[in-house]
Amino acid sequence: MNPLVRFEKQGNIAIVTIDNPPVNALSPGVPEGLEAAIARANADADVIAVVVIGAGRTFIAGADIKELEFAAWGQPAKLPALHDLLAHIEDSAKPVVMALHGTTLGGGLEVAMAGHYRIAAPDGVMGQPEVNLGIIPGAEGTQRLPRLVGVEKAIEMCVSGKPIPAKGALAAGLIDEIATGNLLESAVAFASHIAQSKTPLTRTRDRNDKLGTPEDSGELFSAGRALAGKLRRGAIAPLMAVAAIEAAVNFPFDEGCRRERELFAQCVASDQARALIHAFFAERGVAKVPGITKDTSVHSIAKVAIIGAGTMGGGIAMACANAGLQVLLRDSQRESLDRGMATIRKNYDVSVTRGRFTAAGVEERMQRIHPQMDYAGFEGADIIIEAAFEDMAIKKAIFAEIDAIASAGAILGTNTSTLNIDEIASVTKRPESVVGLHFFSPANVMRLVEIVRGTATANEVLATALAFAKKLNKVGVVAGNCPGFIGNRMMFPYMYEAQFVVEEGATPEQVDKALTEFGMAMGIFAVDDMAGIDVAWRVRKALGHFSEPGVRRPLVQDKLFEMDRYGQKTGRGWYTYGADRKATADPEVVALIRSMSAEAAIPQRSFTSGEIVERTVYQLINEGARILEEGYALRAADIDVIYINGYGFPARLGGPMMFADQAGLAKIAARTADFHAEFGQRWKPAPLLVRLAGEGKTFRDYDAERA
Ligand code: 3HC
Repeated sequence: MNPLVRFEKQGNIAIVTIDNPPVNALSPGVPEGLEAAIARANADADVIAVVVIGAGRTFIAGADIKELEFAAWGQPAKLPALHDLLAHIEDSAKPVVMALHGTTLGGGLEVAMAGHYRIAAPDGVMGQPEVNLGIIPGAEGTQRLPRLVGVEKAIEMCVSGKPIPAKGALAAGLIDEIATGNLLESAVAFASHIAQSKTPLTRTRDRNDKLGTPEDSGELFSAGRALAGKLRRGAIAPLMAVAAIEAAVNFPFDEGCRRERELFAQCVASDQARALIHAFFAERGVAKVPGITKDTSVHSIAKVAIIGAGTMGGGIAMACANAGLQVLLRDSQRESLDRGMATIRKNYDVSVTRGRFTAAGVEERMQRIHPQMDYAGFEGADIIIEAAFEDMAIKKAIFAEIDAIASAGAILGTNTSTLNIDEIASVTKRPESVVGLHFFSPANVMRLVEIVRGTATANEVLATALAFAKKLNKVGVVAGNCPGFIGNRMMFPYMYEAQFVVEEGATPEQVDKALTEFGMAMGIFAVDDMAGIDVAWRVRKALGHFSEPGVRRPLVQDKLFEMDRYGQKTGRGWYTYGADRKATADPEVVALIRSMSAEAAIPQRSFTSGEIVERTVYQLINEGARILEEGYALRAADIDVIYINGYGFPARLGGPMMFADQAGLAKIAARTADFHAEFGQRWKPAPLLVRLAGEGKTFRDYDAERA
């Protein structure tokens, strides 16, 4: 008996249960088990219909991504060949009813669509999320989905990768019924009814009525390609998905399937698939932290207290309220508190306008946030998060105060983006309870939280911080306590190098264009303007950047600061900003750069986009390698998760370290050495980069060796 697929009978209905925890992926054994179960049901004279259902939390959540990873890296992989199985399900003489709950995704939906009927639990979701992994549906999903939901909806689902809820699936024709009570009972009743009423069975492959003609669909395909460009700039897979759906319209089913298989094979062998599959496992790997096991106790968090109602404090308050937590939001200044609450209200109102939340949902969230000027109630908070000004003296004063009032088990978090956690913790009598919680702005939107482990931070506190991030629907990555932690420590050399490049002849606009074409969500000058040139100035001073004699220092940023050009907040920075907050190149800034460069006798030259990317992104990689070797990042993959989720690095490149792996460490090390020879100390190649390049290895190998 196949342990992954059970066969039972309930009266004259065969119940086929897939039991492959945690998510019933189509790992080796599952397709075989399903195949055998369908055959057995057909051979059993007593059986009149079949129900296929998932054990545990979900129906099938897709192909086994571990096998896809092997395939992507050109290693032997056991990818399920589902063609025959799906044909046998469709050809079954007895009705096959798929009972769907949880997440019916990818290959799971493809199996479900081969059934004659689908019935779903009300909270189930269904989708083809393959594009998230750089691939397209590979088990005929691009051929059956448009037959069930029509071409337009199929394109939308395959290009966006977003699952749809049961209600939407019913409206679209993807499922036939939503179960009202117990799913299995409903499915059995449904199957009995179909069998007894002798309703003729229709194979999905034969349902051509929603496909339309190539002529009708031309515009839909153009719109699909435009959507792909909009949602996933530079990604190959969504375009391939559109092409595969086009084949469904243009060719008979079997020919369409052949075309899908070819496109799937091209995608799976691509750099993008390797990068995105890496990103999938990297995100799930961040919770593996030395000192934390399944048995590490995790405090439950229901009540959060936040200090500082500014941009960060307000955003964190929203993230907590969205997760159903009670929030005390304190600011010592009445004006700041009122402004903070007004901003929260305004941001929520925008989400109602955009249809993200209902007005009632927003009221509930607002009710969870209690503005106050004192510390009343802080003694009942499970976690206190300081989100005050980025200034060590201010933070220390606050920590001394909260140490006196927080309950014994409370976690004391600081939202510092650069400062020393140990020094902040030193003013408390419980440094083991102190942890860095570096949220990214806007904190209600951005998924990343850097969780900074101080020397004394207790394992339970770290484990609770990770669980807290998860509760907020964010990804928490543990970082060591070095200046700037992981993300910002890497960002400084990247940002300064971009400034050197403009001093040598490029413009901020040209650099930002090169970086966004590379795939960054924003150029670095636009980022500097958004984060605030004044903030960067303060951080620079606090961390003592350029204090060593003889190091090259960027010339223009201090000048912009002196000119009160702080960026978006003052309407002028590296760019100028109108009411729409759109950046416009400012000739005055370019003239300033040129005159300061001339004064400093910096030779001028022109740059290609490729050179700009090398000069800037290789700084990220070199600093990342240093951080990794020094142990401030646990894995290269953690750095990638940070850069994808907090700094707008394109997921399709897998993060800076995976990008380096795929570009070739030998190439990166050689260019870094060239820059070192040309520019000196700041380009000194990181020893780890040099070593791995010399050994013909990758950062991925480094992670694997240490796992
Ligand atoms: N294959 C292998 N492992 C998987 C998996 C899959 N399809 N989906 C999830 N897992 C693993 C995760 O790696 C994780 O393992 P870990 O505990 O060892 O870290 C575990 O299952 C639990 O996953 P999550 O932590 O993500 O749990 P959540 O409850 O937050 O989310 C989920 C569950 C929504 C199913 C989410 O895991 C997910 O989105 N999975 C990917 C689904 C997907 O992309 N399916 C399509 C695959 S490609 C495909 O089917 C190709 C086909 O067309 C041929």
